[in-house]
Amino acid sequence: MDVGALRAQIPALANSIYLNTGTFGPLPRVVTEEIIQGHELISAHGAFSPVVRQRIEREGYERTRTRVAQLVDASPDEIALTSSASQGICTIAYGLDWKPGDEVVITDQEHSSGELPWFVLHKRFGVNVRVVQITQSADQILQRFADAITPRTRLVFASHVCSTTGQRLPAKEICALARERNALVALDGAHAVGQFPIDLHDLQPDFYVMCGHKWLLGPQGTAMLFVARAHLDSLQPSWIGWGAQCEYTENLATLSYEPLATARRFEFGTKPWTLFLGLDRAIQFIEQIGFDAIEPRVHQLASQFKNEIAQISGLELITPQNNEHSSGLVSVVAKNFTGSDLRAFFWNHQKILVSSHELARRVRFSVACFNTENEIASALDALRALA
Ligand SMILES: Cc1ncc(COP(=O)(O)O)c(C=O)c1O
Repeated sequence: MDVGALRAQIPALANSIYLNTGTFGPLPRVVTEEIIQGHELISAHGAFSPVVRQRIEREGYERTRTRVAQLVDASPDEIALTSSASQGICTIAYGLDWKPGDEVVITDQEHSSGELPWFVLHKRFGVNVRVVQITQSADQILQRFADAITPRTRLVFASHVCSTTGQRLPAKEICALARERNALVALDGAHAVGQFPIDLHDLQPDFYVMCGHKWLLGPQGTAMLFVARAHLDSLQPSWIGWGAQCEYTENLATLSYEPLATARRFEFGTKPWTLFLGLDRAIQFIEQIGFDAIEPRVHQLASQFKNEIAQISGLELITPQNNEHSSGLVSVVAKNFTGSDLRAFFWNHQKILVSSHELARRVRFSVACFNTENEIASALDALRALA
């Protein structure tokens, strides 16, 4: 991989040490240009002109859906384009018909967007939430899921890659276990897509949630939801409106409507068409680098980084060191600092951009394929100074 040439295509890398792709990835210049071109077309013709509707709404937007489907080995009919991963999770949570006493099994490492919807279901519908504590042993994790799933479990929800530690969970085995026990399974792949190849045909989740704006280097406001074909009829849209692609008569006496039998049933209202053109370009950008090049480079940089962090006393590395169970996310607990202290400390130290958690006193570095050995060395210097 020619890292210098790659970096030259991503403007934000010139202005900071960008170790925050796990929050928002930096936009390649071609992505920004694609969005601008879309807006220029709108500016030249007006948003609802036949030219714009054909080129952006019909061709561009649907090309993005097809590209997402190809990226994860699914059918375009199984992909809904959403404005956030949070929206995708809520689409699942509020699309199932819950009964009091139903159970959902989640982990103790979920993002707030992967926790809060279940709390609401608990409060509104009497759904019980069982929480599996994640350890660094895949066998132990699977045993804990096996213990937590009961005949009342309707849904198992887990991150494919935990946003807290970057740990890669045994997703395929979790899906198989849920299936064996007649529970549905939803994976939160916000940190998986763009980091390594995802084959939904092989994983076989019922639902899979993805972010466009992290490791795929797409714009904010783009995300994707996979709904397996078998559930396209049964998962009900909770929000609906114009553009929802449903058949209905405006006969207020019958109150009848029929949502489309594809995942487009979950899309409605005005959409940010041009952002999805940008997402399409971002996926092409990632595909041109190729996961064959991305994965080994991230493993090499992250391993080197973690090995050095493990030797700094006073800091606790909470990310597994083993490549098979980790990713480009590297998290460290620094007990004496709040999250905002940590962000400010790294920013003031050579403009290192990181994310941090206020209460958990944790700083998270996102190591991406475009990062350099020198940037990792700067982050290590800062960590030693912090310690
Ligand atoms: C694991 C995980 N799930 C969901 C989300 C929410 O994503 P979005 O901002 O697209 O709603 C995030 C965001 O950081 C995340 O890390």
